[in-house]
Amino acid sequence: MHHGFREHIRACRARGAAVPAFTAYDLATATGVVTAAERAGVPVILLVSPSTAATRYGHGLVRSLRALADASSAPVAVQLDHATDLALIRDTVEAGAHAVLADGSREGYQANLDFVRAVRRQLDDDVIVEAELGRIDGNEDVARSTDGHGAALTDPDEAARFADATGVDLLAVSVGNVHGFYRGVPVLDLERLAKIAAATDVPLVLHGASGLPSDVVTAAIDIGVCKINVNTELRRTVFAHLEEATPAHAVGLDLDSLLAGWTEATAVTAAETIASFRGDHRPATHSGAAPTHRS
Ligand code: 13P
Repeated sequence: MHHGFREHIRACRARGAAVPAFTAYDLATATGVVTAAERAGVPVILLVSPSTAATRYGHGLVRSLRALADASSAPVAVQLDHATDLALIRDTVEAGAHAVLADGSREGYQANLDFVRAVRRQLDDDVIVEAELGRIDGNEDVARSTDGHGAALTDPDEAARFADATGVDLLAVSVGNVHGFYRGVPVLDLERLAKIAAATDVPLVLHGASGLPSDVVTAAIDIGVCKINVNTELRRTVFAHLEEATPAHAVGLDLDSLLAGWTEATAVTAAETIASFRGDHRPATHSGAAPTHRS
């Protein structure tokens, strides 16, 4: 499933849905996500955290995810998430990743732009490059509640200039979304999101979907978000499964059954997420049914 994933993102946007992207630290979770995508018949992205990619097994995991993607009946892409290191990006793409988030958002505008351009130059045209403009608050791998005060919100005019200057495929925005748990009720600046969507045609990405009410997610999709990242929610599912299922399987030290349940639990959560991103609505095959949320 190497070629053509850009087309799946475009098609999702055209029908008013978003491609879900789930972080996978392991194969049991990734298999659950792919199972959910196959059951719904929709495209999905498997995200690899840079901290995972940089471990001794990082390469092996990316290769395995790629094999899982290639064998899937649903369109599946593998993406290195939040990468700040050019060498790690190169190695991960070589191991089979279809996409990267070249994340210069901790730097200033110009340094971010230079980094994204350098990444774009290094990679083949068929590798999808996402950038992040503004800075999303919170921790990508460890859930803590965050109120978003460490964030820098995306400026709509800058977003348009940045997208033009870099030619990125996808742009992640910071509009009140955070990684990890939201402290208090999450509030997204949908007005800002709408201004960004009006200023640029680049497909927009919403990170930090765990904990967002589904009407907020739907509103973001209607404005033009067409890829949404989810991590914490799946980790919560995994830990809940382990807590519940471990005592029974511990008797026989039955790891196979524990992992099978792990995969099914993540498939169920992923299916709910896919549905809330409108991914379970099949593309219209007859004229007149196309969504009209964007002109
Ligand atoms: P959450 O952990 O808040 O779902 O965020 C995931 C994410 O944005 C990964 O890039």
